[in-house]
Amino acid sequence: MSLLEVRDLAVAFGRTRAVDGISFTLSEGETLGLVGESGCGKSTTALALMRLLHGAELHGSAIFGDCELLRLGETAMRAIRGAQMGMIFQDPGTALHPLIRVGDQVSEVMRAHLGISGEEARARSLELFRKVGIAAPEQRLRAYPHELSGGMCQRVMIAAAIACSPRLLIADEPTTALDVTVQAQILELIRAISRDARMAVILITHDLGVVAGLTDRVAVMYAGRIVEVATTDRLFAAPGHPYSRGLLGSLPKLDSGWNEELPTIPGSIETAAGAGGCRFAPRCPLASEICRNEPPLMAIGEGRFAACWKAS
Ligand SMILES: Nc1ncnc2c1ncn2[C@@H]1O[C@H](COP(=O)(O)OP(=O)(O)O)[C@@H](O)[C@H]1O
Ligand SMILES: [Mg+2]
Repeated sequence: MSLLEVRDLAVAFGRTRAVDGISFTLSEGETLGLVGESGCGKSTTALALMRLLHGAELHGSAIFGDCELLRLGETAMRAIRGAQMGMIFQDPGTALHPLIRVGDQVSEVMRAHLGISGEEARARSLELFRKVGIAAPEQRLRAYPHELSGGMCQRVMIAAAIACSPRLLIADEPTTALDVTVQAQILELIRAISRDARMAVILITHDLGVVAGLTDRVAVMYAGRIVEVATTDRLFAAPGHPYSRGLLGSLPKLDSGWNEELPTIPGSIETAAGAGGCRFAPRCPLASEICRNEPPLMAIGEGRFAACWKAS
């Protein structure tokens, strides 16, 4: 039984379809990597599931437990957000309130959702600070965000996100703003917590390297679509979609564009979609006549799907 089942999710900002019909499922306790270069719709997907997008039109379906997330009212969504679905963002500095002590911010989440006393919430916050590896937690509870390093702030964000033992944690580029050594610690922390609590995780990153060894499966996004889904081992062993191969650096460099930071596709997502063909074709070294037809996500082996006529 899936914890989350997303079907044909589309998100439109006016005429721009930032996410254009994606489907995926997530099991209890599973860790899914959502990978793709900047602007492909990863954050929009996460924010749509959390119902934190304002002024966007949502289409499709996202069943979480027995709730249709896309059609829940704000009151019902508030009860789920923070309690059953936690989220951590790229920049903990902006996600934390600058004028409230970090311990109080974590306590507040629990008071709001668990209905526990201030005293009990403080005791649990202390426990959480220890769990996420914050040294001298008693003092740190009373600190303001600006008194803490980026890595420490991210640990506070994680403490707040897991405070109510959510069944799903969405981590959107959780380590991009951090030093390399701190990145590894934070990723290891997320892994340890998800394993201990059997919490499902959607780990969003533009860096495929981050998901290796950390996720069970990976969904690769390109221009608002999922172009490949595979177990992490299989994706790394044999990426099926030319875009995934490009991200992994295992395609021959046919032009200067083939490096880790692929240049953005000329035109907008809209023009790419308007052409009706494969959205990656303009940048694909394998593109040919057949790619004028947009390929659906097709099974290309056990547990592997790719939206490419030439995937193998
Ligand atoms: N609030 C918004 N209004 C209009 N367009 C947006 C908004 N948020 C995101 N977009 C557009 O949606 C696309 C996907 O953005 P995003 O989901 O942030 O990508 P990613 O997280 O993969 O870098 C981009 O083209 C971006 O410009
Ligand atoms: Mg993003």
